[in-house]
Amino acid sequence: MPYFSQTVQHIRSSEIRDLMKLATRPDVISFAGGMPNNDLFPVAEVDDIILNMEPDIKKVAFQYGPTSGYPPLLETLKEYLKSKGLPVETHNLMITTGSLQAINILGMEFIDPGDLVLTENPSFIGGIAVFKAFQANIKGVPLQHDGLDLDILAQILETEQPKMLYVIPNFHNPAGIIYSKEKRIKLLELLKGKNILLLEDDAYNELYFSEKSKELTTPLMAMNHDDVTMVYTGSFSKILGPGFRLGWMLAPPDIYEKAQIIKQGIDACSPNFTQVIANEFIKKGYLEQYLNRIRKEYAERKNLMQEALKKHMPEDVKWTEPGGGFYFWLKLPEGIDATEILKDSIDKGAVFVTGKTFDPEGQRNNYFRLAFSNMDKKDIDKGICIIADAIKYQVTSSKFQVTS
Ligand SMILES: Cc1ncc(COP(=O)(O)O)c(C=O)c1O
Repeated sequence: MPYFSQTVQHIRSSEIRDLMKLATRPDVISFAGGMPNNDLFPVAEVDDIILNMEPDIKKVAFQYGPTSGYPPLLETLKEYLKSKGLPVETHNLMITTGSLQAINILGMEFIDPGDLVLTENPSFIGGIAVFKAFQANIKGVPLQHDGLDLDILAQILETEQPKMLYVIPNFHNPAGIIYSKEKRIKLLELLKGKNILLLEDDAYNELYFSEKSKELTTPLMAMNHDDVTMVYTGSFSKILGPGFRLGWMLAPPDIYEKAQIIKQGIDACSPNFTQVIANEFIKKGYLEQYLNRIRKEYAERKNLMQEALKKHMPEDVKWTEPGGGFYFWLKLPEGIDATEILKDSIDKGAVFVTGKTFDPEGQRNNYFRLAFSNMDKKDIDKGICIIADAIKYQVTSSKFQVTS
């Protein structure tokens, strides 16, 4: 057999993935998957769209389409992005096969082996996987409750020249936080003239739980970013369904031109079928109705989890209550390993994702992520109780080990 490429030679099944295989028992309560709720998908609206679709549009849906996207969807989406203050007149919009594809295309466009890529620590596992695949030298910049630690970023920029900085300012996966306005302004100031591509991933923009959180969701790209090269990505996955496999990229013309050529070689175009439906979904006004419905439901789930955490977690477990999105990010006492707690929790019937999964360097493990998006609401309290008991057991036995 020929040698594997350098890209895949270092890929291994992670310890977590192996543990997760044990967690497929139907009685296990899962806080692991970062996906929307199966019961919330807008099935009736999509049925209506398909049943009432003009025959000519149906034919288009079956056909290949332009690489940059189905033209009517591009127009509809431009209007939507314009309403968020995004610069759709000066930048070019491309539909991608999920926003993960947009990150992949940008990886191919900008990263040579060994290039320094900065991410938040923790960061989205899909982004980390892309940067690893392009053999980037990935460095994590710590995330605080209101955004990146800018002192550490400034220190790095004094001595190093990263190619790219990848950030998720709204309802972060996995950290659940939202960047403050001050941090957004300072970040853009810090990057001014530095020749670093700022990649803003805004997959959770619409999933705010209050007006106060909504006000903070203004994208970095909608702010004054003179002299900062930026690309903005978004997704239909959390506002319609990940099965559509539709995302988008808003990029300056020169970046867009190369991205289009790259996408031609990957999949020629994103599925026309789902693009046609997504376009009708927005044009018929279903998107706003649907968003109002899911924001309420996810806020209720977040509240249930917050209550359960307050009730069951030992005092030295810390977290920030999220203002939107799908996730709680919890900090364990120093020296406690989330993997040990996971093993015990799986035995007793609850599963989550450990912190080191989201650490670009795969080290820091006294954190873990709980998703509240896709389990029975009635199971939230029970599942949190199981995890809290596993933590209490670990904390007690680690104290015993130190003193004995
Ligand atoms: C932060 C973030 N970015 C991007 C994605 C990928 O989304 P898509 O389904 O559009 O590829 C996800 C999915 O969970 C995510 O959490």
